[in-house]
Amino acid sequence: MNKVLGIIDGKEFTTGDTLLELSYLIAALLFVSGLKLLSHPESARRGNLWAASGMGLAMITTLLLHKTGEGAGIPLTNIWIIMTAIGLGAAIGWMIAKKVKMTAMPQLVSFYNATGGAASALVGLLEYPNAVAGDTGSILVTVLGLIIGSVAFSGSMIAYAKLDGKVGDLMKPYMTYINLVILIFTIGMGIYIVASPNQPSEMTWAIYTLMALSLIYGVMFVMPIGGADMPVVISLLNAFTGIAAAMAGFIYNNQAMILGGILVGAAGMILTVLMCKAMNRSLLNVIIGSFGVGASAAGGEHGTIKEITLSDAAVLLSYSQKVVVIPGYGLAVAQAQHIAHEMDELLESKGVEVKYAIHPVAGRMPGHMNVLLAEADVPYEKLVEMDDINPDMPNVDVAVVIGANDVVNPAAYDDPGSPIYGMPVINAHLAKNIIIMKRGMGKGYAGIENALFFNEKTRMLFGDAKNSIQKLVSEIKTM
Ligand code: TAP
Repeated sequence: MNKVLGIIDGKEFTTGDTLLELSYLIAALLFVSGLKLLSHPESARRGNLWAASGMGLAMITTLLLHKTGEGAGIPLTNIWIIMTAIGLGAAIGWMIAKKVKMTAMPQLVSFYNATGGAASALVGLLEYPNAVAGDTGSILVTVLGLIIGSVAFSGSMIAYAKLDGKVGDLMKPYMTYINLVILIFTIGMGIYIVASPNQPSEMTWAIYTLMALSLIYGVMFVMPIGGADMPVVISLLNAFTGIAAAMAGFIYNNQAMILGGILVGAAGMILTVLMCKAMNRSLLNVIIGSFGVGASAAGGEHGTIKEITLSDAAVLLSYSQKVVVIPGYGLAVAQAQHIAHEMDELLESKGVEVKYAIHPVAGRMPGHMNVLLAEADVPYEKLVEMDDINPDMPNVDVAVVIGANDVVNPAAYDDPGSPIYGMPVINAHLAKNIIIMKRGMGKGYAGIENALFFNEKTRMLFGDAKNSIQKLVSEIKTM
């Protein structure tokens, strides 16, 4: 089967080579179409499967058809080691992913991202002696892969520990300067290694020092970042892992790895920027600033709070034509998605039109509300994006805000002093009536007051969201 088809640049090109290149092309198409499908909740599962099949195909054909050095194929003993490692990794990954709770998903993503960073860093470490035999470009990509992979590994591990409540924040103003010094040393060591004319054996200390510095930088870079900013940081570290994998792809001259890495890097970077935009903050502000600090004075709104009884809320909802549920972080905390869906079905059975308004950064991770509501089997067509629902908000009879705060704060429109000024929000304040479910007068993630709670049209329904909706559902049923 491995027939020589021709000679390119003095090297034989065989049937195996052609098949390998072809499989990489198919894998690339699967990656790209998988990514496209991920952009809608309905097709996201399929997208995940397509991209994973692309990766599976690239792995199988690489193992079967890849040439190493002079000889063709990978030695049989290595194949067994590789297969055992893949089998073990896949089994462990499968088991963890099966067991993990939806709310612990960010931790899991962070942990897997750390393993990707570690793999790329190890490739850099092991391939350095071979890279020295090549040109400066080979040494540069090896060193970059080592630095970025190590930062992604240790940074993601800290992000994982923080999200899991195992490590707290360490926010000291001097941390920025310490980090800057470590970064300068890391880059300096990297330049020294790339520019050094020494033999690899004389550079062992330098390459290990570089790895240690990069690992320390990863820890120090993530430590001061506020726990609630972790989703942005994870997305950024994810982009780092992608770039490190692409560097490893350059080292092995493997197109599938280069392309896969670049796609992850680019997607991670775009997601990071989108999250920052939706939060109306710059990336630098996420990394070195702390949101909400000194902002409590801003928008210090006063007024009277009006509560609503369960029976009044049940009457108001049952006799409405259009109801829009606006879920937020509190819905996730209370795990109120199932009961919220029960309420919407109950209202629909009474002829009320119910939709959910989805803010891009409601909750604490990208797509948080979509995932929660999908878990509760809320049909996708009921989920309406912020930009699509906002023009219709004045026609809505009741906006039911469940555990959301910042994403419905009108200060984004009318308070230039507010830290969320300019952030796109859902126009709950334009609805004819507003019911807000939350436990008390607790602030949201941005740590600021919300004028919506004091609005003439607003009625508060205090209590844990799940509990409140449960009681509300019973009340609606009696009507
Ligand atoms: P938040 O503004 O964080 O408000 C959540 C509200 O839920 C709180 O005011 C809290 O008030 C209430 N709550 C907590 N537990 C509850 C429970 N068991 N039952 C009922 N209510 C409960 O949420 P949001 O409106 O979804 O906004 C998200 C915020 O997170 C934005 O500022 C966004 O920028 C930020 N953020 C988002 C992301 C992503 S990617 N989604 C990433 C990082 C940061 P009480 O304490 O009074 O109950």
